[in-house]
Amino acid sequence: MHGFIYDIKTKVYFGSNHLSTLGGELSALGKKVLLCRGGSSVIRSGLYGKIVSEIKSAGLEMFELTDIAPNPRIDSVREGVRICKENGVEVVLAVGGGSVLDCAKFVCAGALCDFDPWKFMSEGAPVKRALPLITVLTLSATGSEMNPTGVISNPKTTEKLGRSAPALRPAVSYLDPENTYTVSKYQTACGSADILSHIFEVYFQREPGMYMIDCFMEGLMKTVIKYAPIALSEPENYEARANLMWASSWAINGFISAPAGGAWSCHPMEHELSAFYDVTHGLGLAILTPRWMKYCLSEETLPRYVQFGVNVFGIDSSLPKSVIAELSIKKVSEFLYDTLGLDDSFTKIGIGRENFKAMAKKACEGGVINGFRPLAQEDIEKIYEMCL
Ligand code: NZQ
Ligand code: ZN
Repeated sequence: MHGFIYDIKTKVYFGSNHLSTLGGELSALGKKVLLCRGGSSVIRSGLYGKIVSEIKSAGLEMFELTDIAPNPRIDSVREGVRICKENGVEVVLAVGGGSVLDCAKFVCAGALCDFDPWKFMSEGAPVKRALPLITVLTLSATGSEMNPTGVISNPKTTEKLGRSAPALRPAVSYLDPENTYTVSKYQTACGSADILSHIFEVYFQREPGMYMIDCFMEGLMKTVIKYAPIALSEPENYEARANLMWASSWAINGFISAPAGGAWSCHPMEHELSAFYDVTHGLGLAILTPRWMKYCLSEETLPRYVQFGVNVFGIDSSLPKSVIAELSIKKVSEFLYDTLGLDDSFTKIGIGRENFKAMAKKACEGGVINGFRPLAQEDIEKIYEMCL
């Protein structure tokens, strides 16, 4: 286990009936609020009305940034920054999924600097300060509600880039599983694939001595495997939505990744899919993950697949190790494609090999992704080929 600093400042209100505290939490941070949202899902669900009424009864002044798209664009960030600067906004409230939260994070940072916010992504400009952020999560997937990361797309440069900084971590997050009852089957499946991938990126590494974190990760994976199908068939099952929601936060709030070494692999490969084709993040991950697992399987990495297959899918430990490893990959594919019902190839979602070279080069930034198995450009191209 690596040494690490673990410092989570996000206060979480989990469960129903906490929204009456929102006015007080916002007031403690400022009087002028920028409410950020995506399309109409929060209006249709009735959540928007409840939130506006909380803001109004707390006597706060409200501004709005709307229509933040999935795979949020830098232009939305720029618009949010403009509203904040022109009106002296003091606190930002993000209501939505990861895209709204990520966009809001860079609005918070951009509002307190005097350069174009794309520079946070393109040039690694320092995020020294940011307006305080409160989130009301409506989709279990990215963990953005409890982490210091945001991912923003720039269609002009065909780039989708992530950036983390402590100042971006939300001050307060409201996690009410009931707010995810209206999430479609497709987005529930994609979100579940995303949560699983966040755990895989840490679990499938070569770092030794992670017993305690391993047990925790295996529990998180079993949680997704148990509850995602229930949420698909019973969208208003509180227990299923609650378990998925809390798993999404803990899969990527630093708890499991802080002690682990090694770079993430599927995420950089997927972000290029989103950048070039505007693919839903979880779907791209679902297509890539089993192929990446296959590509990384070797004598050296075999024990990890065996541990995973036995502990997570209950595969018979007396089988030959190589059989367990193959079965583990098969189980992952079956879960993603049969149980969650996600498409299983690039071809099915209209992606050909035309951009593989450029995407692979960008995914490894011209070098090597030093993860479970080091991946250079040609390795990534091969994995993309396997996804066709
Ligand atoms: O725009 P609206 O109308 O709100 O509809 C959204 C959107 O169309 C809908 N939705 C959200 N909550 C809903 C709902 N529909 C019905 N009922 C609800 N309660 O779902 C659609 C997708 O929303 P989005 O926010 O894009 O999904 P997600 O939460 O999966 O976020 C994906 C983005 O987060 C990034 C991804 O790359 C992608 O850009 N990620 C962010 C990370 C982070 N901050 O740490 C890590 C992740 O690995 C990921 O890269
Ligand atoms: Zn992800």
